[in-house]
Amino acid sequence: MRIVLGVTGCIAAYKSAVILRLLQEGGCEVLPVMTEHAQRFLGPLTLEKLSGNRVVGSLFRDSSTAIEHISLARSSDLLLVAPATANTLAKFAHGIGDDFLSTLYISTVTPTVVAPAMNVEMWRHPATQSNLEILRGRGVSMVEPEAGYLACGEVGEGRLAAPEVIVERSLRILSRGKELEGRRVLVSAGPTVEDIDPVRFLSNRSSGKMGYAIAAEAQTRGAGVTLVSGPTHLNPPPGVELISVRSAEEMATAVGGRFARSEILIMAAAVGDFAPARRCREKIKKDRASFGTLQLRPVRDILLELGEKKRAGQFLVGFAAESGDLRQNALGKLRRKRLDLIVANDISHPDRGFASDYNQVLLLDPEGGEENSPLLPKTRVAAFLWDRIQDRLASRPVQVA
Ligand code: CTP
Repeated sequence: MRIVLGVTGCIAAYKSAVILRLLQEGGCEVLPVMTEHAQRFLGPLTLEKLSGNRVVGSLFRDSSTAIEHISLARSSDLLLVAPATANTLAKFAHGIGDDFLSTLYISTVTPTVVAPAMNVEMWRHPATQSNLEILRGRGVSMVEPEAGYLACGEVGEGRLAAPEVIVERSLRILSRGKELEGRRVLVSAGPTVEDIDPVRFLSNRSSGKMGYAIAAEAQTRGAGVTLVSGPTHLNPPPGVELISVRSAEEMATAVGGRFARSEILIMAAAVGDFAPARRCREKIKKDRASFGTLQLRPVRDILLELGEKKRAGQFLVGFAAESGDLRQNALGKLRRKRLDLIVANDISHPDRGFASDYNQVLLLDPEGGEENSPLLPKTRVAAFLWDRIQDRLASRPVQVA
């Protein structure tokens, strides 16, 4: 396997030497590309000597007739950019090719992985976030930075992910298509929305990020994935079949109709538990006569119903968002809904869970298995979850419906 390792200009550039070594240990040949600014932080000789390959740094190196960025793009299996600065991500997002690395990116058809590293304010800036969204929507894999002490002296998100995590993710993508190949996965995500009248509704704070990350990760690992989603602001992950729904009833119909031919169901959606007893066709006017009590009715519990219909070989995963008694409440749901695994998270912390990019989860299974994840970006919680599901599926053959 040949990996182009792109290094851009930030203090974390020195970690690219470790990344290079770990990639070699994983059996890869590494072709280093450094931007001009990266070469100010780390001498190209280091990567040259470690890789045994010349570092490409400029579009106009010599008078050779070969178009180097095209030939490199064609002869490699993966483009990994670590660390990736906000500037390089912006260029990638908008197709600007003003140096070797950005020109290489727009010439490449191989999978691309980026590991951003920057100051916390740069990371949170709407410009950076919307560039990341563009790249994710295009299928670029993101190894999100960690929260911690940054070179600028601030504390927050922006620190390059650990080299081991970046390399593990890259190697996994290189072997993509193997681990979940042949498995049919059904994921639900986002909130449900219950209309009161044509303008007002009942809903919840779910952003859909967790469910979308789970669907994207399953697709990356080779599964056939259907994502049933309530209204969100997210782009559907490439290669995933998206079914958009609004109410809990619509979600029940969409998920229920696809359940029989799915092997794994992950209900990450925050399904509303109540809906207005009746929906007014006309907008309710605010005159006193229309004041009253909003009558609610319970909605169907989708997972409970499907747990009862579960056939041998199907694997059901539920979520439990709790503000107290996390373990006990989650165990109750695991048993009641006949789940194979439950992902519990404590929603009382503002830095994780609902609407956040981060989550920390407790996994529980019916055999008494129990494991806590660290606080991780949701994309990595998705990878953590799939690793654990795969461990449990390892003993089961692929089910053909
Ligand atoms: N769920 C579902 N249908 C519902 C409500 C929940 O399928 N009507 C699923 C969720 O997608 C989640 C799991 O059941 O995977 C647990 O959801 P949660 O809202 O935490 O629990 P509830 O069973 O609704 O119980 P409570 O709200 O009382 O905690």
